[in-house]
Amino acid sequence: MERQKVIISEDIKAALDGAVAECHADRLLVLVDETTHRLCWPVVSSVDCMRDAHLIVIGTGDEHKTLDTLTHVWQQMQQCGATRHSLLVSLGGGMVTDLGGFAASTFKRGMHLVNIPTTLLAMVDASVGGKTGINFGGLKNELGVFRNASSVIVDTVFLDTLDHENLLSGYAEMLKHALISDDPHMLYRLMSFPIADACDAPFLQLPTRLVAESIEVKQRVVLEDPLERGLRKTLNLGHTVGHALESLALQRRPVLHGYAVAWGLVCELYLSHVKAGFPVQRLRQVAQFVAEHYGRMDFDCRDYPELLRLMTHDKKNVAGRINFTLLSDVGRPVLDQTATTAEIEESLDFLREGN
Ligand code: GLY
Repeated sequence: MERQKVIISEDIKAALDGAVAECHADRLLVLVDETTHRLCWPVVSSVDCMRDAHLIVIGTGDEHKTLDTLTHVWQQMQQCGATRHSLLVSLGGGMVTDLGGFAASTFKRGMHLVNIPTTLLAMVDASVGGKTGINFGGLKNELGVFRNASSVIVDTVFLDTLDHENLLSGYAEMLKHALISDDPHMLYRLMSFPIADACDAPFLQLPTRLVAESIEVKQRVVLEDPLERGLRKTLNLGHTVGHALESLALQRRPVLHGYAVAWGLVCELYLSHVKAGFPVQRLRQVAQFVAEHYGRMDFDCRDYPELLRLMTHDKKNVAGRINFTLLSDVGRPVLDQTATTAEIEESLDFLREGN
């Protein structure tokens, strides 16, 4: 797979005109959900190349990332006469770019695709790296293909539409990228940036350069291992425990993905310390940052068996063994690790007790 083309834009109109022109498409379609239709479509609808676009609107939220929604998108593509030379622009968060990517990859065996992520989470993670898909049979991202968009246009103008929690949710994936990055200073740049103030004061925007360097970490990993045979597993840091916490929360009061990842990072850095020698001082710094910004999830030791059951069913596991990506230090991943029940429970104690 080629390196993904990511345009870090400060002029969304020019970036979009350029990306669309490059595709020489015979028909332009735009996929939005109800939220991005309201908040983000007005920002791009006046761009010249959007004049005759066929707009497809789907419901907001992961519960719409389904075969029914995909069928609706395919039907719309068919009804407006789309061909394999047409272009789909996905304008939205990860749900829209994942589902749009899958629809565009499969319709007539694949049409052009441009992603415009509108959430921080989608900018630094979902829209880059070629993973597309939908949920199926109660499992997340069960159906999908790997396929890069022709271009991903990242413009932080859309971050103005995000609330505090959604900004922090994306920031957790940036912390993860900083932890696996070769540049040890990236983590400190993120932990010293006043993200809480940026959430409250729209004029104190998250610097584009922090977003761009985070995307670059993901780009480098994906370029080396696009199909997740090895190195790409480093992007799963924090996600084994994180997914289990997210699923547990779903049974009670759902939490945003990035919050679960932030808490998962604390547990998995604890395991990294115990099993791979990750420095304790760094562990404490990250744990403190997470406690301060993400608070604590409401669970106790009676939930441990359910969390372990959820981890055992994670699709990253091989031969029923709970699989972790750990770190021996910042930028030093140790892949395909496992841990005992006692060690995992200790890491959950560490998270709950706040180090
Ligand atoms: N979100 C992890 C990956 O793209 O591999």
